[in-house]
Amino acid sequence: MSKAEVFENERATGYNRFVETWIPGYNYFLDGLPGLFGQVNQKDLLVVGCGTGNEIERFVQAPERWMVTGVDPSPEMIKQAREKLQEYDNVTLIEGFVSDIDRKYNAATLLLVLHFLDDNGSKLDLLKDIADRLVPGATFVMLDITGGKNQLRQNLEVLRLLLPAGLEQDQIDNRLNRIENELFPVSEERISELCTAAGFEPPLRFFQSSIYMGWIMKKNGAAF
Ligand SMILES: C[S@@+](CC[C@H](N)C(=O)[O-])C[C@H]1O[C@@H](n2cnc3c(N)ncnc32)[C@H](O)[C@@H]1O
Repeated sequence: MSKAEVFENERATGYNRFVETWIPGYNYFLDGLPGLFGQVNQKDLLVVGCGTGNEIERFVQAPERWMVTGVDPSPEMIKQAREKLQEYDNVTLIEGFVSDIDRKYNAATLLLVLHFLDDNGSKLDLLKDIADRLVPGATFVMLDITGGKNQLRQNLEVLRLLLPAGLEQDQIDNRLNRIENELFPVSEERISELCTAAGFEPPLRFFQSSIYMGWIMKKNGAAF
């Protein structure tokens, strides 16, 4: 059984407002995504944990025509994605898990998902499920809360400084406390170990905004 963090109710409806507030640079990261996949010949992308469709929106607006499959286990998130993307015939949305998919892609993304899964085999299972659905040499981009205990703690203080004005102190403390104590971020070294164990080449960290790190890597094997 795949592990999931299901987003419901206000967490789903208020999601976009939430990420824009709490993730400095989130829109910058999304805007750069299609460019990061510029060298992929066949524009056939798997978006894992697509949520409300934020990253898919960038690909359907890109100058190249991408075929995009989004998968997410949260009904309320995928419902928003369907509403937002219904006019596009190059987007397929699946309510479910990567393991439900039985074909391969040339590219994949996993944004803001892995830190919800415990490092007890669940992270590795998801990364393997993704690698198994990619052709050799495929490009994979990930955004995740990353950092060992000390690095995370220091970057949470940086995040505190970067938050927009107007948030209540209690709200900030609760959120930062939840990230530190209830989510499952791992160190940069561990991210690298997990990705290579799953079947990817060693990942490159190309982006960082406080606790959020962006990684790019290729699936093992020569591109065809
Ligand atoms: C923080 S949201 C990120 C959504 C989107 N990637 C974005 O950047 O806006 C996390 C999403 O991961 C999904 N999720 C949780 N567990 C998952 C799993 N095992 N496989 C795929 N998606 C999962 C949740 O349903 C949720 O929509």
